[in-house]
Amino acid sequence: MSKETVLLVEDLHTYYFTLGGVVRAVDGVDLEVYRGELVALVGESGCGKTTLGYSIMRLIMPPGRIVKGKIILDGINILELDDEEMRDIRWRKVSMIFQGAMNSLNPVMKVGDQIIEALLYHNAISSVEEGRSIVKKLFELVNLDFERMNSYPHELSGGMKQRVVIAMALALNPDIVIADEPTTALDVTTQAKIMKMINDIRRKMGISIILITHDLPLVAEVADRVYIMYAGKIVEAADVYSMFKEPKHPYSQGLLSAIPSIKGPKRRLEGMPGEPPDLRKPPQGCRFHPRCAYVMDICRTKEPVLKPLASGTKRIVSCWLYDDSYSKGG
Ligand SMILES: Nc1ncnc2c1ncn2[C@@H]1O[C@H](COP(=O)(O)OP(=O)(O)OP(=O)(O)O)[C@@H](O)[C@H]1O
Ligand code: SF4
Ligand SMILES: [Mg+2]
Repeated sequence: MSKETVLLVEDLHTYYFTLGGVVRAVDGVDLEVYRGELVALVGESGCGKTTLGYSIMRLIMPPGRIVKGKIILDGINILELDDEEMRDIRWRKVSMIFQGAMNSLNPVMKVGDQIIEALLYHNAISSVEEGRSIVKKLFELVNLDFERMNSYPHELSGGMKQRVVIAMALALNPDIVIADEPTTALDVTTQAKIMKMINDIRRKMGISIILITHDLPLVAEVADRVYIMYAGKIVEAADVYSMFKEPKHPYSQGLLSAIPSIKGPKRRLEGMPGEPPDLRKPPQGCRFHPRCAYVMDICRTKEPVLKPLASGTKRIVSCWLYDDSYSKGG
């Protein structure tokens, strides 16, 4: 059965124009998400994951700006919409669970009212009463007692606040949800419960999820496909099984080798040698070359292209090691 593409990002560039220079946070990203799948977006801190999420929501604020590219959502390039048209689509077609959102709920407003206000703002309801019935359904979905809608954020545990934030992201029944580190601030047991809930909701509602996370064992457990991002670019994408079994890009190999084995003896997390580059002046050629154990001359001068590993496959990688045009002396 052919898969239906819900989101297609093409050659996206999002830069921050700061006094210290232009930060090329997203620098030519391609990404595709199919209906109903969970795609993990993984990479070191500062590689541009949140910037990519905000770009897809079209919520990049100055000094940031989307400079170039396409973001096609259900067949429409949202970068061509005016602000009002975008407001109509945002939360309805694509929504986001923001990094750290549970700590930015309005402290002086009951959580149920915060959801109803958002629904009213989007003209999704015509009365507060209608809003209450939607909140009731949403709270059932995220396993919160309906009475909790009258609580203020400080009266709720971290896990409950995160459930409220997830309910908000689901309020307008979006096709795709970008979940930016949705469990990071929670204790381990709550993390597992919340992630299981997100995954159950995805299956029940048939939504697609882009999961931004540093938690690689979680990725192995819940993702269908994985995108690895390095210094503003996607360096590899594959189905989760192939990615963990045999990562191809040297950066992916380093990242995935840092996962402690559950069965094996406990060992220190090695992490990745070297520092991520300054995105105001990224290295020439392959951005990973200063840290790569396999670096060749060409890597220092010419940038590798993200392309299928073999023709016709969805497994893509950008590295000269796998580029026939180079290895055959071209
Ligand atoms: N408002 C801003 N102004 C200037 N630079 C910014 C701004 N927001 C992000 N950046 C820079 O853009 C780059 C990408 O940041 P981003 O927050 O997207 O990374 P991330 O992958 O989400 O990191 P983390 O894993 O720590 O959340 C970083 O170099 C960051 O310093
Ligand atoms: S292109 Fe060269 S430097 Fe970059 S990851 Fe591949 S081998 Fe390493
Ligand atoms: Mg981030």
